[in-house]
Amino acid sequence: MLVRWAALTDASDIYASEIRLFRTDYLSRGKVVEAVKHQGCLIGFVNSTMAGYVMFRMEGIDDGSIYQLVVLPRFRGCGYARELVTAATQQLATRGAKNVSAYTPLRYRVGVFVYKSCGFTDVDIVPDFYETGDTAVLMRKEL
Ligand SMILES: CC(C)(COP(=O)(O)OP(=O)(O)OC[C@H]1O[C@@H](n2cnc3c(N)ncnc32)[C@H](O)[C@@H]1OP(=O)(O)O)[C@@H](O)C(=O)NCCC(=O)NCCS
Repeated sequence: MLVRWAALTDASDIYASEIRLFRTDYLSRGKVVEAVKHQGCLIGFVNSTMAGYVMFRMEGIDDGSIYQLVVLPRFRGCGYARELVTAATQQLATRGAKNVSAYTPLRYRVGVFVYKSCGFTDVDIVPDFYETGDTAVLMRKEL
């Protein structure tokens, strides 16, 4: 997978995949643009096709967070999520992060497995975290 910074011209593709995958609990177009312009959004390509993306930001001086991680269905199971999380973690480290956190749905275990495979541990359970009322697991990695 080729990983590069997302550009504003990628915002429409990312937003379209948000709607397709998450139906009710997706990032608005404005949030996608904000991620690309002001926070951090890396996008992964396989054979020139968008395979996934990861969004992240600093929450304070020491605390990095990954707040969106998507691999499109036909590219799953190839280790691309781990590549995206690793790339985002490296970028957050260059911004001074001492730790990186991520929320992932409890019900959908794959997110937890992905973050665990990247060296994160589960530190909290947060009921009602998502619009859908679903519970989140807070995962964290010390850098
Ligand atoms: C979660 C998601 C990003 C995983 O993407 P992926 O590219 O398939 O994940 P990877 O192939 O990089 O998997 C990394 C590790 O996660 C674990 N894993 C991934 N899919 C798994 C599955 N279906 N069952 C069990 N473990 C799994 C494995 O430990 C894997 O490591 P391994 O290859 O050494 O076995 C993808 O399914 C997705 O976009 N889902 C919808 C959005 C979402 O839920 N995002 C995460 C929460 S923010």
